[in-house]
Amino acid sequence: MSTKDQLLLYLKEKKGNWVSGEALSTQLAVSRTAIWKHICKLREEGYGIESSSKKGYLLRTISDLLLPNEIREGLDTNVFGWKDIVYYSKISSTNTKAKELAAGDAPEGTLVVAEQQVKGRGRKGRTWFSPSQGGIYISLILKPPISPGEAPKITMLTGVVVAETLLKLTPCKINIKWPNDILVNGKKLAGILTEMSTEMDAIDYIVVGLGMNVSTLGFPDDIKDKATSILIETGKYFPRVTFIREYLRWYEKYYEIFKNIGFEPVIQRWKELTNIIGQMVIAEVAGKKYIGEVHDIDNDGILILKDESEKLHRIFSGDVTLI
Ligand code: BTN
Repeated sequence: MSTKDQLLLYLKEKKGNWVSGEALSTQLAVSRTAIWKHICKLREEGYGIESSSKKGYLLRTISDLLLPNEIREGLDTNVFGWKDIVYYSKISSTNTKAKELAAGDAPEGTLVVAEQQVKGRGRKGRTWFSPSQGGIYISLILKPPISPGEAPKITMLTGVVVAETLLKLTPCKINIKWPNDILVNGKKLAGILTEMSTEMDAIDYIVVGLGMNVSTLGFPDDIKDKATSILIETGKYFPRVTFIREYLRWYEKYYEIFKNIGFEPVIQRWKELTNIIGQMVIAEVAGKKYIGEVHDIDNDGILILKDESEKLHRIFSGDVTLI
């Protein structure tokens, strides 16, 4: 552990109490000038540390930045969160970065985290609005032992994981819209972008990107009637770090279920979290539109649409709009 991290840990243990510079310098076996330099660095990272020439230092507030050591505090997973957490205050897209890392052999469980994305990407070439510190923009590298055709299952699994996280931490009434939108009161709160690289008939890696609007209050005109945030829905600020920790916990749980038992328990839970079955929708697949009732989501996560002549269509991927 670096001296800076040890210093932070020590201040956290004493939270609410002053600690003298001398005590810190003895405890960490470094000079008082070195302590001061680390304090400055911690302040830059968003920690509210007061200093007084007489009393020393006091940790008043924890940083709300998505720093790896904050995400890991109290995290009780085995793998997720314990491989590299690659942190950026600003990046083009966490998915793009994660793909680069995965192509360079980053292991399963590597997480890319950013406070802000300047080229956040959504599905179908759309952009993902990613203002600084307003939301969660993270990408997880996975190497599941499945065929490329099964990759949409990972997207649906992620939808369940996001919903469980939100249900655990917020009073929001969550609804998943096929295949991967997380809605509250009919508006989009979070989206998932799954991208993969394949070799022959096997998956080399999958990158699962999650974008969640946490404390965003204003959205650009084109999405302002369709998007929402946790702050808008609840009137409360929720620490983003807590979400990421909870997300990693649920991810590990469902990923283990998926690998050891299969997709069935995941899709069963997915169906409990949606109200799309029985709804009239327009499904757009490769430029073609299908209108009808959602008859079912089958055990592989495929949407079965019944058109007006009672014909069933299997929709593997696409956009669905409720009528
Ligand atoms: C969607 O269109 O619903 C998917 C949105 C996914 C956005 C996330 S934010 C983190 C990750 N990096 C990106 O560039 N996109 C995903």
